[in-house]
Parts: sequence; structure tokens; C-alpha cells
Amino acid sequence: EGALVADALGRALHDLRISVTDRCNFRCSYCMPKEVFDHYHQFLPHAELLSFEEITRLAGIFVGLGVRKLRLTGGEPLLRRGIESLIAMLAALRTPEGQALDLTLTTNGSLLARKAAALKAAGLQRITVSLDGLDDAVFQRMNDVGFPVGEVLRGIETALDVGLGPVKVNMVVKRGVNEDQILPMARHFRDHYGGAVVLRFIEYMDVGATNGWRMDEVLPSRELLARLQAEFPLRQLDAAAPGETAERWAYADGRGEIGLISSVTQAFCGDCNRARLSTEGKLYTCLFAHAGHDLRALLRGGASDAQMRAALGALWARRDDRYSQLRGQGQALPGDGSRRVEMHYIGG
Ligand code: GTP
Ligand code: 5AD
Ligand code: SF4
Ligand code: SF4
Repeated sequence: EGALVADALGRALHDLRISVTDRCNFRCSYCMPKEVFDHYHQFLPHAELLSFEEITRLAGIFVGLGVRKLRLTGGEPLLRRGIESLIAMLAALRTPEGQALDLTLTTNGSLLARKAAALKAAGLQRITVSLDGLDDAVFQRMNDVGFPVGEVLRGIETALDVGLGPVKVNMVVKRGVNEDQILPMARHFRDHYGGAVVLRFIEYMDVGATNGWRMDEVLPSRELLARLQAEFPLRQLDAAAPGETAERWAYADGRGEIGLISSVTQAFCGDCNRARLSTEGKLYTCLFAHAGHDLRALLRGGASDAQMRAALGALWARRDDRYSQLRGQGQALPGDGSRRVEMHYIGG
């Protein structure tokens, strides 16, 4: 209700996820497998990237269409040079009612201890950190570049210290690879940060075309919940916002909450209000889309704000994506899976 634009399935536009680089210093097997993203892989050349001015202009137009939350993603967004300046520019945007936007970022945490204070000073409000295990051997098997857990934990703690909390921690679970980390992760984030960290367990998804996804490597959230419940009683909470990815559960003893992101076994397309902007300025209306709409060509072709707004509104009005839902119903999926957009390019 009250939405400025609705898509073909009646869904509003609320979140804009902005990918600021296709590069990453990790090679997570579920996102950028080393065998594919090797020394020879061509990343985008600098001239192809949207400038900070272009990103900010587009974000402002999206705000006019109803966007209230901006999330910076990558690849690894903290690798984009001068990211603090972009954050400061986005933090200055206002809604038509004069409010600041919800401004956040999803990072692998590797550079966070170094950068947290500058991100906060630039106007970032909160942060989400990916971490797939507490045991170094398991985590290094996931990130595949030998990156240590301790440095990511130091990043999370620095983020809390400078006021970027509550921090969300994202753990992608692969059956047989890091499932033994579920309880240690739950215990650690429950016991050490006074409820200021929300750990979210993510079902391993069939995004992109390179991660060799198989259903037998997915640990369904219901099964994961049963394992947690055996040690910690939990009760379900109401969603904090419509269209949220995570189902929220609170520890019965009041020591914080966790989230379950179940896009494989319980799709949440029904109220999906997220648009995605790629590093080179393509708009994707679904994480599983094959192609994006070239907004950079419009920008660089001299379109006015009013023309951009009309074009974006028309694109949203045509949107009928609901990939996870169709897949969950076992329906034949549109198109060819080998052409799906890659996660490191669109930012999850
Ligand atoms: P908040 O709700 O603001 O905390 O963030 P978020 O869950 O929207 O974003 P985040 O970057 O933390 O992503 C968490 C997980 O959800 C990642 O695995 C994303 O790839 C996945 N995800 C986010 N949005 C979507 C979506 O629209 N569809 C699907 N299928 N997965 C999504
Ligand atoms: N399945 C589920 N989540 C994934 N992410 C990256 N690839 C996948 C995948 N195949 C997660 C990252 C990060 C978020 C943006 O997306 O771990 O936390
Ligand atoms: Fe990098 Fe994040 Fe992809 Fe891992 S999931 S390779 S940290 S972009
Ligand atoms: Fe939205 Fe597509 Fe994810 Fe469904 S699969 S929730 S439509 S991004």
C-alpha cells in the first residue's frame, strides 16, 4: 500500500542493492570458485564502472520511486577505492519527507578492522559481515584464500566499537562442508556481544552458473532450526519490515536473535521489493535474472531525471520475476541456467 510504483505482481520498490566492484580478495566456493575466477579472469575495466556521481544520481531517482534502503555490495565493496566518499554522498540523500535513508553494506570483513571508523564517520548506519565458520580450517576451505577467522572477528568487534551495530553476520551453510560450525557460531555470537550481533543462517543457493550447486549440499532451514532448538529454545518473532529475507527467531532466555534465510526451501518472492544495480550500471529485477537493463547508456546518453524516472518506473511495472518460487514449485524455469548473472557481479 502507498507504493509509488508496483510491479506486475503488485510488489513495491523498497531496497536498492548497489554493487560497487566485481572484484574480491576471497574465492568462496559458492560464489567465485578459484578454478573459474583465476589469474586469467577479466574483471571490469575502470571506465566501465559507474562513477560515484552516477551512482548517487541514480539512487536519488530510485528514492523518488519509493526506495528507502540502500545496500552497497560487491564483489567486496571495501575494495572500491574511495568508498567512504560514495557513502558520504549517499548519506546526504533525503526522502521526499526529508528523512535519511537506511544505508548499509555487506562485506567479507577482511578490511573492516581498518576501515570501520571511516565508514561510520562517512555516514554508514550499520553493516553485515559474511563469516562461514569459527574454525580456521573450515573457514579457509570456504574462502579458499587462507584468510583467518580472527581478522574477521576483529572487524566485527571494531564495527561494534565505532557504533555500526547491531551487526548482522551471514553464514552460508553447505551440508558436509561447514555444517559442524552451526552450533559453535550460534554459541559464540550469542555469548560474547550482549545481543548486538544477529547471526543469519543462509541456505546455499543455485545462483550464477559456476558454483556447481547441488540440492544435496543444501541444509534446509527447518533441519537447521531443529539442531539449534535442541540446545537453545527459540521462539519466532514478527518480521521487522515487509519483504524481508530472513525469518527472525529469538533465544527464549532473551539473549538476542538469529535469522534463517531460506530461499531454496521457502522462497520469499511473494513480496520481494529489491532492485539490483550492477557495477557497470545495469538494473537487474531478480538475483536470478539473465540480463540487466542498461541504465548507464541512458545516463551517459543525456537523459534528464524525469526521463530516467519514467524509464525506471516502466521497467519496474513490467517486472514479473519470482525465480525461487517457481523453482520451489518444481516448475520449468524460464531460460537457460548457464546464462544467469553471477553473484560476485550482482552482490547477492
Ligand atoms: P537485511 O535484511 O537488510 O539485513 O539484508 P538482506 O538479507 O536483504 O541482505 P544480505 O546482503 O545480508 O543478504 C543475505 C542473503 O540473502 C544473501 O545470501 C543474499 O544473496 C540473499 N538475498 C538477498 N536478497 C535476496 C533476494 O531478493 N532473493 C534471494 N533469493 N536471495 C536474496
Ligand atoms: N548462496 C547463498 N548465499 C550466497 N552468498 C554468496 N553466494 C551465495 C550462494 N551461492 C552470500 C554471501 C554474502 C551475501 C551477500 O550473499 O555470503 O553474505
Ligand atoms: Fe567474495 Fe563475498 Fe563472493 Fe565470498 S561471497 S567470493 S567474499 S563476493
Ligand atoms: Fe526476489 Fe528473484 Fe530473490 Fe525471488 S528469486 S526473492 S524475485 S530476487
